[in-house]
Amino acid sequence: MLDTLKEHLAEVEKYTSNSLDEIEAFRIKYLGKKGLLNEFFAEFKNVPNEQKKEFGQVINQLKSLANEKVNTLKASLSENTDNQGKYGDLTRPGEPIEIGARHPISIVKNKIIDIFSRIGFNVSEGPEIEDDWHNFTALNLPEYHPARDMQDTFFIQTDPDILLRTHTSSVQVRYMEENKPPIRTISPGRVYRNEAISARSHCFFHQVEGLYVDKDVSFADLKQTLQYFTTEMFGKSKIRLRPSYFPFTEPSAEVDVYWGLETETDYRMTKGTGWLEIMGCGMVDPNVLENCGIDSKTYSGFAFGMGIDRIALLQYQIPDIRLLSENDVRFLEQFKSAF
Ligand code: DAH
Repeated sequence: MLDTLKEHLAEVEKYTSNSLDEIEAFRIKYLGKKGLLNEFFAEFKNVPNEQKKEFGQVINQLKSLANEKVNTLKASLSENTDNQGKYGDLTRPGEPIEIGARHPISIVKNKIIDIFSRIGFNVSEGPEIEDDWHNFTALNLPEYHPARDMQDTFFIQTDPDILLRTHTSSVQVRYMEENKPPIRTISPGRVYRNEAISARSHCFFHQVEGLYVDKDVSFADLKQTLQYFTTEMFGKSKIRLRPSYFPFTEPSAEVDVYWGLETETDYRMTKGTGWLEIMGCGMVDPNVLENCGIDSKTYSGFAFGMGIDRIALLQYQIPDIRLLSENDVRFLEQFKSAF
């Protein structure tokens, strides 16, 4: 009989279950009115006196062990069901995490920043809501200057002094007002022009402005910098500078990169010439330096400005500029592997 009791002790000890019905059946088996423990207690009177002590101890041990078991199993069961209510099924496999993609504008912008930062340019930014001075006047575009018409401007309400910047050249002015040469900075940002929206033009787009001011900066420095840029950016080092006009630079030029005529697409993109226009540039006009508090007798500089959207359209063969601002995930998802 003592052996039977000890077997039960071992059995209770290892018992486990996470079903409420099973635990209840276990409780009834040991602790119920007609349960084993009551049976053992009933047997107690038949146990020889000298064994009673040991017997009593083991039965009590079995009783408290069974009680404890039932309580702990029930407690852990209710804890589990609580958790399920709060967090769902904790054993379920995790949901796959969707990896996002950078916007093509950001990819191109970051690449341009990266290329110029390697030759000592920092990044500067200015406000999109600008005043007349920073967007026009300081850049050698006084009131009634005909070149103001080159860029159709959005004015804010009725105040002709406040506008949405038409180019990032405004950041040049701000940077020169606040910093002394040597200056090497690029300024990426969004610009606005009152233009009809089509596949090729939009009323807002993005530019990167570049500015280098120091003693003895020459046109040769400008050309070398641009050549370094096109080689790093497009893997193409052949460029040409065509004379042009911008009020804030003198002399001014437009930069074309030789794209080649190897494929059908090259033909289409370059209209059969092999050349692609990528930016405007020039030597900073001395008037502009003076307007910004920099002595034009001691210092000279070059500047350039390019459209980020245009480069993104070129690099990714995107046929319509509107795709860049529509945020259609089917379009954006295609840039997952770029960075
Ligand atoms: N601001 C000009 C534009 O929006 C681009 C540009 C041309 C910027 C020549 C420059 C520059 O800094 O030197 O069309």
